[in-house]
Amino acid sequence: MKTYLKVVSTGIAIPDKVISNADLEKMVETSDDWIVTRTGIHERRISENGVSSGDLGAQAARMALDNAGLSAGDIDLIMVATASGDHLFPSTACIIQNKLGAKQATAFDISAACSGFLYCLTVAHSLLSTGSFRTALIIGAETLSKITDYSDRSTCVLFGDGAGAMIVTLGTDDKGLFASHLGSDGSYAPLLNLPAGGSRLPASLETVRQDLHYIKMNGNELFKVAVRSMEEAAIMTLSKAHVSTAQLDLLIPHQANIRIINSLVKRLGVEEKKVYVNIERYGNTSAASIPIAYHEARAQGLCDENSLILMVAFGGGITWGGVLIRG
Ligand code: ACO
Repeated sequence: MKTYLKVVSTGIAIPDKVISNADLEKMVETSDDWIVTRTGIHERRISENGVSSGDLGAQAARMALDNAGLSAGDIDLIMVATASGDHLFPSTACIIQNKLGAKQATAFDISAACSGFLYCLTVAHSLLSTGSFRTALIIGAETLSKITDYSDRSTCVLFGDGAGAMIVTLGTDDKGLFASHLGSDGSYAPLLNLPAGGSRLPASLETVRQDLHYIKMNGNELFKVAVRSMEEAAIMTLSKAHVSTAQLDLLIPHQANIRIINSLVKRLGVEEKKVYVNIERYGNTSAASIPIAYHEARAQGLCDENSLILMVAFGGGITWGGVLIRG
């Protein structure tokens, strides 16, 4: 039987505090011109001290529940994609479950960095298809500002905080469509990581002194594998569904860098007007970037339940993924 994910509703949480390129000029040796030219980012949102990814994720989830007219009791599966979870354990999904009061939901996190939301959608499709779950709440939530070194100009200009949530159920009629392609290559792990705080390098005074609890990135190398892996994810996903790029109504790429997006769009041959971009306002919000973009695109009327939408991402790991849906 053909099954697909029906998007019931979406929600987002965007912190109020804006950090502009001009603000960063006062913190590190950089310039608005460098940041805009190299990344496309004009500003990003940063959460207040004490606000966690779980807080933002719960806020986005409440909006999605309100928009659907559902209560927390209607949700039986919660999955959270995050690289900046509240703790190593318990999972941020369990934290959000408790905040919402979704007592009967099974809750767990998926660790795939910026590709995490697409990993979640794919796993949700499989789990809903078994019939064991009916209504899934999928969240991408990040407070990357908490793990960003604001004295490192090569990373601090890129990242922002935010969360996006999506409530999905399983569709079984002929209207919908679901195709997915996921990939990983752990040999690239050193290109993007957070060295300390796990079992490899437990937290100590020394790890703190060496700033090892912050994101470390080789941006140059990552750029190359990003474009390649996102292109592969897009092509493989489309080919599984026998859909051509010309048939797409909307492409939602992970918002990491406008140059990565432009290279991808050029390689795929998608019309620019069909590509959703909001990186100028939020920077790279990792696992939250696709659900935030999807929510905004829907709110702006750029897609509806008949639209063919391809979402494509890459992230630390490295991981990559594409998900094609109608709706
Ligand atoms: N302001 C001014 N100069 C800077 C800055 C800055 N913020 N950052 C770096 N530079 C300098 C470098 O020191 C270097 O100077 P040098 O030539 O004197 O050595 C010069 O600018 C060029 O640096 P590059 O690293 O070569 O710049 P590049 O054009 O590659 O842009 C960037 C850097 C924006 C990080 C780019 O490589 C990129 O976007 N890579 C992908 C990053 C990414 O997507 N990361 C996240 C993916 S996964 C996830 O989303 C969690």
